[in-house]
Amino acid sequence: MGDLATLLRQALDEVTASTTLAALDEVRVRWLGKKGAFTEQLKALGALPAADRPAVGARINEAKQQFEAAVESTREALAGAAVEAELAAGRIDVSLPGRGEARGGIHPVTRARLRIERIFRDSGFEVATGPEIEDDFHNFEALNIPADHPARAMHDTFYFPDGRLLRTHTSPVQIRELRKGRLPLAMIMPGRVYRVDYDMTHSPMFHQVEGLVVDEGVNFANLKAVLQGFLRAFFEKDLRMRLRPSYFPFTEPSAEVDMSCVFCDGAGCRVCKHTGWLEIAGCGMVHPNVFAAAGVDAQRWTGYAFGMGIERLAMLRYGVSDLRLFYESDLRFLRQFGAA
Ligand code: PHE
Repeated sequence: MGDLATLLRQALDEVTASTTLAALDEVRVRWLGKKGAFTEQLKALGALPAADRPAVGARINEAKQQFEAAVESTREALAGAAVEAELAAGRIDVSLPGRGEARGGIHPVTRARLRIERIFRDSGFEVATGPEIEDDFHNFEALNIPADHPARAMHDTFYFPDGRLLRTHTSPVQIRELRKGRLPLAMIMPGRVYRVDYDMTHSPMFHQVEGLVVDEGVNFANLKAVLQGFLRAFFEKDLRMRLRPSYFPFTEPSAEVDMSCVFCDGAGCRVCKHTGWLEIAGCGMVHPNVFAAAGVDAQRWTGYAFGMGIERLAMLRYGVSDLRLFYESDLRFLRQFGAA
């Protein structure tokens, strides 16, 4: 059976020489198939004397098993190597920067609001909010604007069929906070407000921030100082401020707040329409009727209130000339504001 030993060695050499799974499979089929050498050997058993057959048959089977074992272990090795190669090719370098790492930013109006909140918080104000869907009482009645009051015409109000409305200003939050009966108080109330209006400088939805301070002995000088301090902090400019007598049903006396133009420093330019001044807020001392509607004792407490448009503050700080840019979701515009 020297013949068998030679065949086996040759078969095992071919297994060892296989470098791919496909090549290995070919070798296996060639040796074990119908016309394979091992098969031929078994077929030849018939020609041997009966007494020799069991021993020779066992040796052939043993050789065949050795061959099969070699094929199996080589198959495992090749399969393992294939997985390794695949992993190496697709290796992930965790130290590389990620793809699509586009960073979101904070909308300029939100950014302005956060800036306003921070400045007021730093001087002891709390931040409060109220509902955008309001009732007639909070938005008008309690603010000393009765049903037949001409000031209602100034507010182009969106009404719901049931008489409720989208608040036209943040002043109703004053009423909600005052009615909680926790005095003294110093708070700002930012939020969305709605009016039937749309052009270069008006949007049907915009943002206001309301201010309200109620304490014993609060006066108009306090109001002026707080507004001036805020404007200087917000614009980071040593700007001037002036108050013009005005009218709001819920404050008395009332004033309109102007600040020196942040673009020309008061010299006169296109933005301030060559007046040197920019209108920035409405304000006044809380009207006794408002205190009465909110259950506050006007003999003991006095207060001041102010209201400003956040978009207007944002436009002036960031140099945006068209209000509508804030609502068009144009990424080329929004990207300029980046992260906060
Ligand atoms: N609510 C007023 C407006 O929307 C602004 C304002 C608030 C005026 C508080 C005075 C005091 O125009």
